[in-house]
Amino acid sequence: MKQFSISLLVVLLMFSCKQGPKTSEGEPGPVAQLATSSEEGKKLMETKCYLCHNPSVGEHDQRIGPPMVAVKAHYLDAYQDRESFVAAIMEFVKSPSEDNSKMRGAVRRFGIMPTQQFPEDEVRKIAEYLYDFQIDEPDWFREHWMDRRGDSLYNRGKKPEAVPVKQIPKEMGMKYALETKKVLGKNLMGTIQNKGVEEAVVFCNEQAYPLTDSMSTNFNARIKRVSDKPRNPENAANTTELAHIETFKDQVAAGGSIEPILTEEDGKVYFYYPIVTNSMCLNCHGTPGKTIQPQVVQHLSQLYPDDKATGYDVDEVRGIWSIVFDAPADSN
Ligand code: HEC
Ligand code: HEC
Repeated sequence: MKQFSISLLVVLLMFSCKQGPKTSEGEPGPVAQLATSSEEGKKLMETKCYLCHNPSVGEHDQRIGPPMVAVKAHYLDAYQDRESFVAAIMEFVKSPSEDNSKMRGAVRRFGIMPTQQFPEDEVRKIAEYLYDFQIDEPDWFREHWMDRRGDSLYNRGKKPEAVPVKQIPKEMGMKYALETKKVLGKNLMGTIQNKGVEEAVVFCNEQAYPLTDSMSTNFNARIKRVSDKPRNPENAANTTELAHIETFKDQVAAGGSIEPILTEEDGKVYFYYPIVTNSMCLNCHGTPGKTIQPQVVQHLSQLYPDDKATGYDVDEVRGIWSIVFDAPADSN
């Protein structure tokens, strides 16, 4: 009885092993939405074939299959035109056999490629990509190939297209805001440390606009800092901006994470994000006579007779970034 159950178990295990690969085959991520078909071919090759044909895995003698460039080189050697190159690769992948093989050395070294179920149209895209584009190759390959065949065109084709980075309005706006903040903040801190708060007031007075403007030019965007209680009257928020300031005030008071507000109109993105105080800001936006030194108060009132930007504590909405830029072409 015991004997019997063990052999039954073995049989069952064998069965489940046989069936294993089919069900456990990891589905690669979706590739259909990729921008260009060449990108699709590359992605397919990397997800379906690089398991064994990866150019950068291990040393020459730790590999489990030839790097893809070796496959390409042998097939280019045997087939001159694109059509027969693609057909031969598809043929081999469909039913790997020694009769089909163009790589006797690889078969001897690694054993024949295991038969696997790859959708035909995917293999076609991979083969076309191989033919059309230069692919990554391990360092040792060129010398290895040149020694044997002396043909330097084994990896010919177009250079792979640079993948266009998908521009996302929210990320673009955040980048513009944070980079500008960094530039302003770095210069402001530097001036405070080296020359004191009074000089820093002069710095803000003279440099806040030119620095922000240069970042606008840099990013091809209109970048502004606006406030419901502006120091410089030029920075007064308009009606829309005032409404967003109120929204952000509620969010900041409630704690939690703060998301920018974005709207799109006539191909333009309007981006808003709060500017929140920290203790450093209180040197010039805090309470006169308390956190703002008397000399600084004097300085400020000379430069900004209509200054409304005092009386702040930390973690308050001092104003917002109001940034306008062209909507990226592929956003909707
Ligand atoms: C599980 C490992 C494995 C995977 C995955 C794999 N291959 Fe292979 N392949 C091999 C091995 C090992 C060889 C070398 C032995 C041989 O030539 O059969 C090989 C060789 C080849 C050859 C040359 C065959 C010859 O001898 O002429 C082609 C063409 C090929 N692979 C295409 C592909 C393509 C395309 C993919 C992806 C869709 C792929 N392989 C995925 C293991 C793999
Ligand atoms: C050294 C003094 C000083 C410090 C410190 C300072 N500011 Fe200002 N801030 C100014 C001056 C001066 C202006 C007006 C600039 C101008 O004329 O465009 C200003 C303007 C602003 C504006 C534009 C709206 C307005 O009121 O005109 C914002 C927003 C702002 N500051 C936020 C901050 C924040 C946030 C901090 C801390 C991280 C800070 N400031 C620290 C002096 C300072």
